[in-house]
Amino acid sequence: MPAPLYDALVRHRDLGRASFHTPGHKNSPAALPPDLYTLDFTELPDTDSLFDASGPILEAERLAAELFGTARTCFSAGGCTLCIQAMLRLALPRGGKILCSRVIHRGAVNAMALLGLEPVWAMPENVAAALKANPDVGAVYVTSPDYYGRLLDIASISAACAGREIPLLVDNAHGAHLMFTHPRLHPLLFGAAMTADSAHKTLGVLTGGAWLQIGEKRYAEDAKRAMALFGSTSPSYPVMVSLDRAGEWLRTHPDAFLPVQQRAAEIRELAASREIAVPEGVCDPTRITLETASVGLPGTQAAELFRRAGVEPEYADARYVVLIATPFNTENDFRRARDAVRSFPTGKPLPRGQELPPLPPAAMELREAIFAAAETVPLKNAVGRVAAEAACPCPPGVPVVMPGERVTIEAAEFLLGYGFFELEVIK
Ligand SMILES: Cc1ncc(COP(=O)(O)O)c(C=O)c1O
Repeated sequence: MPAPLYDALVRHRDLGRASFHTPGHKNSPAALPPDLYTLDFTELPDTDSLFDASGPILEAERLAAELFGTARTCFSAGGCTLCIQAMLRLALPRGGKILCSRVIHRGAVNAMALLGLEPVWAMPENVAAALKANPDVGAVYVTSPDYYGRLLDIASISAACAGREIPLLVDNAHGAHLMFTHPRLHPLLFGAAMTADSAHKTLGVLTGGAWLQIGEKRYAEDAKRAMALFGSTSPSYPVMVSLDRAGEWLRTHPDAFLPVQQRAAEIRELAASREIAVPEGVCDPTRITLETASVGLPGTQAAELFRRAGVEPEYADARYVVLIATPFNTENDFRRARDAVRSFPTGKPLPRGQELPPLPPAAMELREAIFAAAETVPLKNAVGRVAAEAACPCPPGVPVVMPGERVTIEAAEFLLGYGFFELEVIK
């Protein structure tokens, strides 16, 4: 009998590529016991229950809270998406306005629609100023690090939030490990009230494993109710075990990220010696993001060259290629990555795309737009109509139009320049 997915995964595994993508365990037996499936149980008298925890799950979560220095840490087997949903529910239980950086995962946009929240959009570098201009927002939501590993100035954003006594919520999907880097860069250390950490992206955790990290006590009590609102009643025990084991592993390997930082720095230096640019500003020291377009090589082509050298990257777009390195990558993995970078042809920089157009005006609430009847139209006919979906070209990875916004000529022209030809609009 054919089993197409199983067959495809076995074929991919047998390519033997060095994994520089999620999950962070890199399929290494050093990260997790290979017989984890023998622990795939359910809620039994002695195995506890995630959303009603009073036994080993509660104790495992308490140990995780101790490790991260939080008021409470909740396990999620539904990814960081579940943590984001719960975080939003905890911060704004009665709805209202939320100031959001435009760099945002679609899961968060959907959760805001489900919860009836009204996002007020700002570019990430303008969040503190936008907060001053919007006295009626009840929380601030940002993504840091972003996919390229760039970090926002969480300390100054959280100081602005503290002045207004509103919580700062951070989508820290790509930064669960930042509590263990040197220096430590986790957003909780810089004043975030809560963070959603996709443990499976950068730590030895099975796909789907994440932590909701609660820094401020006032959100601790209702946390399980908020998680249960969106979570499956059958969370995977192997995923939860992997979260528990990752905590234990981090406690006993406190310096595990030092060599990863060194290897990542070597690759960035090698790239720099070949005139390949890397993102500027404060970045995750373990993330390897190469702007290969700076030497004439589209990121997507660089990704192909990585694959030919036996390396599977996390992500590539027209300008960048991104590798995720963790303590479970081997010396051989890093050697292959360096060899690939040495093989990159270099030439004249590729032209940069246009500047992002101004944010389009909002015409309808997010929730109303997402649930409204919609139709797909050619982009040139979408001008003046209200978008029913987010349009997000890569790069820059920032939605140019959000659901509920009226499509401007500038936005349509920008999107056409990135190869967008159609958009879903409200009927
Ligand atoms: C920035 C960001 N936030 C949230 C998520 C969702 O995380 P998960 O896949 O763990 O649900 C992702 C996933 O790629 C992401 O990149």
